[in-house]
Amino acid sequence: MRKFFIAVIAFSLSVAALAQASGIPAYLDCTKPIEDRVEDALSRLTLEEKVGLIHAQSKFSSRGVPRLGIPELWTTDGPHGIRSEVMWDEWHQAGWTNDSCVAFPALTCLAATWNPDMAALYGKSIGEEARYRNKNVLLGPGVNMYRTPLNGRNFEYMGEDPYLASQMVVPYIRGVQSNGVAACVKHYALNNQELHRHTTNAMPDDRTLYEIYLPAFKAAVVDGGTWSIMGSYNLYKNQHVCHNQYLLNDILKGEWGFDGAVVSDWGGTHDTAQAIANGLDLEFGTWTDGRTMGKTNAYDSYFMADPYLELIRSGKVGTEELDDKVRRVLRLMFRTSMSPDRPYGSMCSPDHYAAAREIGVEGIVLLRNEGGVLPLDLTAPRKVLVVGENAIKMMTVGGGSSSLKAQHEISPLDGLREALDGKAEVSYARGYVGDVNTGQDGVATGQNLADGRPADVLIAEAVELAKDADYVIFVGGLNKSWHQDCEDSDREQYGLPYGQDAVIEALAGVNKNLVVVNVSGNAVAMPWVVKVPAIVQAWYLGSETGNALADVLTGRVNPSGKLPFTFPVRLEDVGAHAVGEYPGVKRPDEDVWDEKYNEGVLTGYRWHDTKKISPLFAFGHGLSYTDFAYGKLTADKKSMTESETITFEIPVTNTGKVAGAEVVQLYISDPKCSFLRPAKELKGFEKVYLEPGQTKTVTFTVGRDALSYFDADRHEWVAEPGKFTAHAASASDDIRSSVDFTLK
Ligand code: BGC
Repeated sequence: MRKFFIAVIAFSLSVAALAQASGIPAYLDCTKPIEDRVEDALSRLTLEEKVGLIHAQSKFSSRGVPRLGIPELWTTDGPHGIRSEVMWDEWHQAGWTNDSCVAFPALTCLAATWNPDMAALYGKSIGEEARYRNKNVLLGPGVNMYRTPLNGRNFEYMGEDPYLASQMVVPYIRGVQSNGVAACVKHYALNNQELHRHTTNAMPDDRTLYEIYLPAFKAAVVDGGTWSIMGSYNLYKNQHVCHNQYLLNDILKGEWGFDGAVVSDWGGTHDTAQAIANGLDLEFGTWTDGRTMGKTNAYDSYFMADPYLELIRSGKVGTEELDDKVRRVLRLMFRTSMSPDRPYGSMCSPDHYAAAREIGVEGIVLLRNEGGVLPLDLTAPRKVLVVGENAIKMMTVGGGSSSLKAQHEISPLDGLREALDGKAEVSYARGYVGDVNTGQDGVATGQNLADGRPADVLIAEAVELAKDADYVIFVGGLNKSWHQDCEDSDREQYGLPYGQDAVIEALAGVNKNLVVVNVSGNAVAMPWVVKVPAIVQAWYLGSETGNALADVLTGRVNPSGKLPFTFPVRLEDVGAHAVGEYPGVKRPDEDVWDEKYNEGVLTGYRWHDTKKISPLFAFGHGLSYTDFAYGKLTADKKSMTESETITFEIPVTNTGKVAGAEVVQLYISDPKCSFLRPAKELKGFEKVYLEPGQTKTVTFTVGRDALSYFDADRHEWVAEPGKFTAHAASASDDIRSSVDFTLK
């Protein structure tokens, strides 16, 4: 071993000596620490080259320094697969034929796995695809908190709970960055709706900001070590977030010590002086003034391009901020495009398809299973009727910037047909017609979904076939069209669109073995819930959609996903709608929508629990084909001090006949506190795999952090002495065992 180390040191020294001898400039000398290389590069740049580094040169790239051999920086969406190539200055396709990708499940599905190992696998796999395609920055993952089920972009995020999202975002980032590709965590911060996304002035109080909306971003920076972060479109404290003193300078770079680059969301920059002073490092996607908009030279008109240069040349601003921005961009380059030891990546590999399927399967949530309708009983030949547009519609295309050109996508119907081959006769009825549009930005699915028949004819056809079927599987929900799960628009209703409720009611009336599969990234109303024995939440599962779904429906895999957000019965049961000001109040003379977050820290299950409102399906809920019995929750001490930790243990047994996994959740309550606190908050979880009859003891250790709230006046986290209760739960509305303890 010693000899090995000596050899390594000798080798490094000789490389360094060689570099010096051959006159390689320090910034190219890979043996030197990154900070030395950054300083050396910085010292060689002209003013124009520096400014050239901090804004885009095309839709997705920024300039390098050709004179010095510093390459361009290439970004890509994100966050579910690597976006296909678009024209230099247009959103339309560049027409490449080697840019199809594996579409991974949407991030809501990843969060629903409640399994950080799946997040690591996701990050590693998508990072490999990005690396192979020579992308340096992956625009994702997104961790904006789920505040309203109307937000058109919830499908790109990780649910309503800051702790869950924090645990899931960190391994994703590490996985991506292990490929020498930067994660660009988005959209920092408070981009909680798409309606008026450029003009909403989000107004949470400080406590709400720190307790609910910032923790996942903080985890991404402090624990995940993300190399870049994307500023969001909205305003906070009347400043656009892409150049925001409070969020970028004070919190991100100040309190959290972020040393990476802040990238503007595309078109999120509005002002040169603010961009200079308030923490923006790299400007992308700005729409220029109309004279030059859309022309290839428009990039010189960016707020951080010629206008910045002019201010410096005229002596109105100095170069201190510029140098800080350039350092950050160079650091990003040395970590990615100029990193000497990056792996080469891989694309559309069997491993990536296997990862997409595994993550999809683990994230599917069995919401309801009365009478054990699922898994499908295939012990005798069966007739299975599949109904619904989402059984056939490709969902990897659409939804905005996360739209993909997938190398393949297996539809639910095709996946079921393959899995049931030889075991069941599968027929299909359309049931309803939703949106027959099947393209975005020139990526066309090639599907022709046109069907001119009226609703009653479609329903009658499905009902007729359903009468004769052993099982009816309705696959519906939302889609990636405008006002559904789609960027730049919010949903206009909580209920299912396209008359689907009527189809489901009609099917429930004629067949008792009805399974409803809801494809969406959002909660939806289910007025028919008690009439439908089995309900499955299937998210957007990407390339392997049909296979993953069939795995769960047939019981090849036992479902183990749990909801990462609450399904309310009605929209009025959501804090943001009951007392919050969604979608904001327009200022009389300005295109700014002020939006108070009156529900404060009571979002999602925190609101439901505290206000005692029963959800349709609770945060953390998800059934299995087996049963789990929880023993007694115990603590290793009755009381603790602020500097101590406390450890809880709970035995969990698989009491059923098949192997399965259970997500054991730890919630903490602070029943007596001088501030209103949520009834309970998630502070730990673990997914345990158990064979039939097997018992495992799950252990959680927490410290002061898990007991604290953010005291805005003192601007610090405070844990008030007194009684606390820990709960072991199978869902936020299914507490199995609790234990009290005291903080001294
Ligand atoms: C979206 C970002 C995306 C960017 C580039 C913006 O409209 O908000 O999430 O990464 O476009 O496509």
